[in-house]
Amino acid sequence: MVSQPHALKLKISSATQLSLVHPSGDEIGIHPLWLRERCQDADSMDLQSGQRLNDPSDFDLHLRYVALSAPAPGRLHVRFSDGHEADFVEGDILAEAAMPPGDYGCPAPVRWDATLASPPRATWREKPGDASIAEWMETFLRYGFIIFEGVPTDQDQVLKVASVFGWPRETNFGITFDVRSKPAAEANDLGYTPVKLDPHTDNPYRSPVPGVQLLHCLANETSGGLSTLVDGLTVAEALRTRDPEAFRILCSTPVRFRFRDKDTELLSSAVPIELDARGNVRTIRFSPRLDFVPLLPPDDLAAYYRARRVFDHALRSSEFEIRFLLNQGDLVMFDNCRLLHGRTGFDPQEGLRHLRGCYIDIDGPRSRYRVLRRNLAGNGSPE
Ligand code: OGA
Ligand code: ZN
Repeated sequence: MVSQPHALKLKISSATQLSLVHPSGDEIGIHPLWLRERCQDADSMDLQSGQRLNDPSDFDLHLRYVALSAPAPGRLHVRFSDGHEADFVEGDILAEAAMPPGDYGCPAPVRWDATLASPPRATWREKPGDASIAEWMETFLRYGFIIFEGVPTDQDQVLKVASVFGWPRETNFGITFDVRSKPAAEANDLGYTPVKLDPHTDNPYRSPVPGVQLLHCLANETSGGLSTLVDGLTVAEALRTRDPEAFRILCSTPVRFRFRDKDTELLSSAVPIELDARGNVRTIRFSPRLDFVPLLPPDDLAAYYRARRVFDHALRSSEFEIRFLLNQGDLVMFDNCRLLHGRTGFDPQEGLRHLRGCYIDIDGPRSRYRVLRRNLAGNGSPE
């Protein structure tokens, strides 16, 4: 959740000093340039798009406040040393100051492991209302996945579901792809065979990798083919604590991921565990069937192989992995940068197993969630 702006306060410390007061009582000065580039008047910003009209890099680096006053409660009037004057709503400044870095306004991830009591499920509805979508999104953003039941099994329904949450992303596999066992000569991916698939993230060879995957079960007449999911965030954090050296190696060794068939050659070099600037896990790229570490000195490779094994064995362990059967009409949607997925093997002689999948990017659900929250807060009318 966004930290509540009212936990912070604004203080005009003197005519030329503006400060933010934290609940602890700590005060930090607000740099004049920070406020100057947030001016919302027609000289500073295009009022239609809300985008800046001036290049803020051209502002005076030594800009100062010349006068600060509160013409009315909750209002601030500022005169800057470059002659510009602007009015601000105090709440706007506090909301800006409270913005946590990262996923602005989206729920924080809740890490889970194999003790997760039951996977988050929801019953799909043809025309879901905003409150339902917001609730589904909240679950998805927290746990990194959600399973919908009762999704009609017409072929392109996965695209309709995807469009509720984001924008479908086309790849060389098409706008959708069919996961079912195909004759050996046609299977350009192990997914299209009946073999078991260990926990992996999809398409680590793409830049950027697909953020979210949807898999819709159109038929499952086999007794095998259980779906598996692991929260890569939980496992990566466990690795950071239990084996910091392995964690460090997987965060810093670029690995080449490759997919090739007769029409395509996709290559990407990336670390298996990518951190953001604050050291938080941002993206996991892990696919033992298509990773190729470069030729490093033997000691470095020995350390890398040990690290990969520790991570891989943790991902496959009963401590972290959950399993469930996707029945006809079930659709699982998961964060492909955070969760790893897989399946147990199955016997195609038993019958048909057919999933139809597609990808969207993670900014879709996040945007949708923020807009829904905004609208629901605005009109206050839950479904
Ligand atoms: C894949 C895959 C899942 C499944 O093809 O990459 O993860 O349940 N398939 O078949
Ligand atoms: Zn996959």
